[in-house]
Amino acid sequence: MYPENVVPAGPYTLRPPVEADAEAVARACDDPEIARFLPLMPSPYTREDALSWITGVSRETWKRGGADYAVTDTATGELLGVAGLKPLDPLGNGEVGYWVAPWARGRGVATAAVRALAELAFAQGVPRIALIAEIENIASQRVALAAGFRREGVLRAAQGSRDGSRADMAAFARLATDPGAAITPYLPFFPGGELTDGVVRLAPLTPADAGDYHAMASVPDVYARHVPPEPPVRAECEELCRYAMHRWLSGHQAGIAIRDAATGEFAGDIQLSNIVPPLDQAMTGYSLRPEFRGRGFVTRAVELLVEWAFTHTSLRRIVAGTAPDNTASQRVLERAGFVREALVKDLLPGPGGTRMDDVQWSRTR
Ligand SMILES: CC(C)(COP(=O)(O)OP(=O)(O)OC[C@H]1O[C@@H](n2cnc3c(N)ncnc32)[C@H](O)[C@@H]1OP(=O)(O)O)[C@@H](O)C(=O)NCCC(=O)NCCS
Repeated sequence: MYPENVVPAGPYTLRPPVEADAEAVARACDDPEIARFLPLMPSPYTREDALSWITGVSRETWKRGGADYAVTDTATGELLGVAGLKPLDPLGNGEVGYWVAPWARGRGVATAAVRALAELAFAQGVPRIALIAEIENIASQRVALAAGFRREGVLRAAQGSRDGSRADMAAFARLATDPGAAITPYLPFFPGGELTDGVVRLAPLTPADAGDYHAMASVPDVYARHVPPEPPVRAECEELCRYAMHRWLSGHQAGIAIRDAATGEFAGDIQLSNIVPPLDQAMTGYSLRPEFRGRGFVTRAVELLVEWAFTHTSLRRIVAGTAPDNTASQRVLERAGFVREALVKDLLPGPGGTRMDDVQWSRTR
């Protein structure tokens, strides 16, 4: 269905793969990121695997109405990656897939290739193109947004992994009628990946934090302040850490580890949640392991986070809520420049079916 020709993609060129690409394809694909996020590709990946893809699998894709292109540097002809369109599904919809060689990542190759493929498919009358990436594959999800694909949701346990587990997949799509401009996330990531004042360090939660997070959230005076005030379920803590970057990118929640800057040890967490873009408002909340209390860590974390939010995002109001008897948390907010706004009666679920009042605070830009 797609014309088997050469497609320009900015400084790159898409062309059907040839046998002479086998060496470069094999070198590129023998890579841990590709093995992790493309579990159907052979691993380890040999020159024979590359040849059988070039002369077999990719020929078959073209015959079945799809497209498989080598992405090359137009100036030098060097192979930089592969990008393709699956044969249309029975409803006439397309889907893109891609990988970029480790030596060519981070310079817009995937974004340019996906954009070119989308234009190619729309020109053939395809109404909708899907792009599905593993929930932890943040690079690929950023490619999706940069190429104008909108996030639509999460497909739970949709892909088998090499270890036999099932991975959740983030689903994006671009319609022929979409503007196609790059989609800017409401919340950017921290510049350089983290914030620090030399005493604490803030960085997105990662799957490796799940054990520490669960242990902290299991401390009775920590979960007493959670909504609802119940001990955490381990699987939910794992999901929270595994999804943290995806939720950040999608503007739903920034889940952040507070670390001791000197040792790197996990000291607690802080979040931005309840994000309301039309109001440019978000809520912050935090917890600290008992061993790290009394050292001003949370006040420092709140100050770093608010300063970043008011400098690097369009947020204008950060709000917080504390129980009326939670003087430690109220002191943190006061020291971080928050003002008390209201006492809301019976807002929060309390233990044993009771309700609890909530003192509400804000700091404005
Ligand atoms: C995902 C992959 C194709 C990205 O290719 P790429 O050419 O490096 O991507 P681009 O240079 O176009 O970068 C696109 C965006 O991703 C960001 N990005 C790139 N690598 C990143 C990384 N490791 N972590 C976080 N973000 C990353 C870029 O900063 C850019 O964001 P911006 O538009 O907000 O500036 C490449 O990392 C890869 O081949 N990974 C292994 C295979 C794979 O995951 N394929 C996709 C399966 S769905």
